[in-house]
Amino acid sequence: MLAKSNFKNTLYINDNLDILLGLNSELVDLIYLDPPFNSKRMYSAPVGSRAAGASFKDMWTWKDVDEYRLDSLAVKCPELTKYISSVAVSHSKSMMAYLTYMAQRIIEMHRVLKNTGTFYLHCNPTAGHYLKIILDFIFDKNNFRNEIVWCYRGGGVPRNDFAKKHDIILRYSKSNKYTFNLDEVRIPYSSDVLDSNPSRYDKSYRSSGVYDGYRPNPSGKHPEDWWPVQPLMPSDKKERTGYPTQKPLVLLKRIIKASSNEGDLVMDPFCGCATTCVGAERLGRKWIGIDIESKTNDILIQRLNLAKGILFDAFISTDKAPVRTDLKEVRPSEPVKTKLYKEQRGLCNACGNQFEARNLEIDHIVPKSKGGGDYYENYQLLCGSCNRIKGDRPMEYLRLKIATREKQKGKIFFGD
Ligand SMILES: C[S@@+](CC[C@H](N)C(=O)[O-])C[C@H]1O[C@@H](n2cnc3c(N)ncnc32)[C@H](O)[C@@H]1O
Repeated sequence: MLAKSNFKNTLYINDNLDILLGLNSELVDLIYLDPPFNSKRMYSAPVGSRAAGASFKDMWTWKDVDEYRLDSLAVKCPELTKYISSVAVSHSKSMMAYLTYMAQRIIEMHRVLKNTGTFYLHCNPTAGHYLKIILDFIFDKNNFRNEIVWCYRGGGVPRNDFAKKHDIILRYSKSNKYTFNLDEVRIPYSSDVLDSNPSRYDKSYRSSGVYDGYRPNPSGKHPEDWWPVQPLMPSDKKERTGYPTQKPLVLLKRIIKASSNEGDLVMDPFCGCATTCVGAERLGRKWIGIDIESKTNDILIQRLNLAKGILFDAFISTDKAPVRTDLKEVRPSEPVKTKLYKEQRGLCNACGNQFEARNLEIDHIVPKSKGGGDYYENYQLLCGSCNRIKGDRPMEYLRLKIATREKQKGKIFFGD
């Protein structure tokens, strides 16, 4: 089948926020992500493994948040911002920082997903319930499709608690029109179901010619939202790379088969040892992998080699952020100002005071020196005084200045 997407398979070695910001909207058919879970640990691959040298941290402070881009959250999603701020009270400042970091990225993932696309977020009970609320804000609660429970055995058990043996995969669609290839992911019935009365099952199916919904379907059963799949064991020498938190290929293949078709574009913005890319490649999909860890490149080359038994197909590996080509450049002008003035209801976007239009100035939310461009989404109106204080700095700086100066009640101050 001909590839529907003409995007070249690409591995980006960079912070995924920088990459996502440079990708065009509605580009990707399926996104799977397995980000750090806020486990407060440092992960490193064992010496001697194929992934030796790879590591990533899973500890969060406010320093991990991209302050230049906080404003896209605070201005464009004030309700989500309020919710995230409240987590500092219900949980901790570290969780608030983690959720802010995730929300900034998920907003961009939602933008680059096609309207018919599907999104799978792999998490665990540490932050899963907080992340689901963020997804309800960004994707809309009506687009929540499944909470998939990946259950497994093995490993240690706590003395005074039930053994924690599952992860959660939250599945959302971007709209109510989305791909779900049920027949690709049916699973075989256990032998006791078929053994219970195989002759009746055959007769019923053959005589009516139509599956009546009660007898076993010969192609397998409709999968439930709990998936017993064993994690990789030390004995899985061929598949295991040693990369910490590597997920089994069989898990990813099920997701890719269910929610994409051949030639579709699959993205994993936290791709680790590139399991999603390998799964997509084997199933004839195009792929984009992003990871901040440069070791991913070597592992992917090795894994694709192994997968095909021949030299891997060329793919692009780069640390350069792409540049969006779907944004219309708009110079700051009077019509832009009039539109912004209406949208901001005459308020300065920082201090919140009301001004006449002539006393408000057009400002770049993300300064041009930090990659912000001349396009409408990057403009706001600030009063002269706020604009002077901000200069080329992030909005966060200005907000904190105003917060300490005025301590205005009822306003949202990130990191306060
Ligand atoms: C849990 S691991 C993913 C494992 C992956 N599913 C696999 O099967 O190998 C999370 C990955 O996210 C990467 N990461 C963390 N923050 C990132 C960021 N801001 N941008 C890109 N990658 C990031 C880490 O380097 C790590 O490889």
